[in-house]
Amino acid sequence: MQLSHGSPEVIAEISAGLMAAAAYTSPKYLYDGLGSKLFEAICELPEYYPTRTEAAIFACHGAEMARAVGDGATLIDLGAGNCAKAASLFPLLQPAQYVPVDISRDFLAGAVAQLQQRFPHIEMTALGLDFSSGFALPDSVRAGRRVFFYPGSSIGNFSPDHAITFLRGLRLNAGADGGLLIGVDLIKDHTVLDAAYDDALGVTGAFNLNMLRHLNHLIGSDFDVEQWKHIAFFNPEFSRIEMHLEARCGLTVRWPGGERSFARGERIHTEDSYKYTRQSFVNLLERAGFATTRVWTDEEQWFAVIHARVI
Ligand code: AVJ
Repeated sequence: MQLSHGSPEVIAEISAGLMAAAAYTSPKYLYDGLGSKLFEAICELPEYYPTRTEAAIFACHGAEMARAVGDGATLIDLGAGNCAKAASLFPLLQPAQYVPVDISRDFLAGAVAQLQQRFPHIEMTALGLDFSSGFALPDSVRAGRRVFFYPGSSIGNFSPDHAITFLRGLRLNAGADGGLLIGVDLIKDHTVLDAAYDDALGVTGAFNLNMLRHLNHLIGSDFDVEQWKHIAFFNPEFSRIEMHLEARCGLTVRWPGGERSFARGERIHTEDSYKYTRQSFVNLLERAGFATTRVWTDEEQWFAVIHARVI
């Protein structure tokens, strides 16, 4: 057995998921150093349309988005990563303060240092925290007009009910004149969806399987990656892509304080990625206390960028 490097809370959360009758893990554990690089590679795949489609929408409609958002805002970038998406909008958006938030503090620090040199007049306040279960903004974030930036359809990782709870939390943090600029992946031909999450090169498979290596590091488990298989498909009943890891043979995984046997074909549910129609997402925003002001899409209506303001 190996050493565990996760905090007691992280270890408890992961163990509970692995011990559940239908085993599951949180998709946030897809992102260790290698996982983040594999996700960057996914974004380059011909099958994975969301990143490139969203970038094209930003490139085409950036000026209109800036008009909807207004300049001089405090721009709070959720899951900022390398900050590239927000930075591409800075010249148009002209925020007074930029607040990138990401679970990986180290990744952020480097990106922000570089960005501050390119945009010396924008105040930058990096926050290294896991915002997925709600958060309060520290006093270093200006109380002025706050606009949340949540691109990439990361909202898709939440179930619709959790998405509403999460967005209500944003609305409370945004203040009376706050807003939201969000990217949402739309329902489309199922073969297009399936291919985007099960690509020919197997990069998404490597991304999914890499979670097992990350879990070994965090909880000291002895997952053998070669015993598992990547599964991804669109489930129309829930309007979501599901990713699973499936045991290729009967096996037992052990870690300090626990073990779990899997029959051949048994799965660990590792990620959901919910897809919406334009209208279903506008409705969801409304239930969370946001009024949609504009929706921008690509020609094929594969992806939407939505601006909404606090009701
Ligand atoms: C980062 C959550 C938006 O759901 O499309 C990509 C993650 N998973 N390929 C997505 C992901 C498999 C991605 N998000």
